[in-house]
Amino acid sequence: MYVNGSILRSSTHPRWFAASTADLHGLLSDHLHCERKAAENALSLVRRYPHRGDSVASLTRLAHEETSHVVQVAALLARRGWTPRADTPNHYARGLLALVRGREPERLLDALLVAAFIESRSHERLALLAAGFARDGQVELGAFYQALGAAEERHAEIFIELAAPLVPAAELAARLAELGEREAEILGALPHGPRVH
Ligand SMILES: [Fe+2]
Ligand SMILES: [Fe+2]
Repeated sequence: MYVNGSILRSSTHPRWFAASTADLHGLLSDHLHCERKAAENALSLVRRYPHRGDSVASLTRLAHEETSHVVQVAALLARRGWTPRADTPNHYARGLLALVRGREPERLLDALLVAAFIESRSHERLALLAAGFARDGQVELGAFYQALGAAEERHAEIFIELAAPLVPAAELAARLAELGEREAEILGALPHGPRVH
């Protein structure tokens, strides 16, 4: 069974903060779309798997919370006089989604575990933004990312808890380890830019 702690197999490169915050309007726009996609993904799992026990309750609560994050990022953009830029292709998420196997029950298992990795990496990066902005004296942004990072803390676990009953514990651990290696490779191959990942 999953033990509390990170499932990530790598840490973000120290230069990522400067690269991602060089274009703040771009970063905040990408962040808004990440939160929107997190909400949409939770609701799409409800559409595809409505019969899976309490998953509907936890996924709809999650979608609600992610939607509130979209509202908060939109408000932050507005305070700076910006409107969100259009979404651009996310090679990180695409790379991970390509690892989802086609047949059930592997398809659902992988969809839940990929969501767990995206949540876990987002949590790591929001914490880095909080620390970096605080260090640079950007008080509003530091506090904003501190609060959002804390809100994301349990999200990866929610997906792992939904995945756990689908397979024996050893199989879950093996797939987490495998996807963890691949996630680190996919992330490591991407250039740093004004985006969450
Ligand atoms: Fe969120
Ligand atoms: Fe989240």
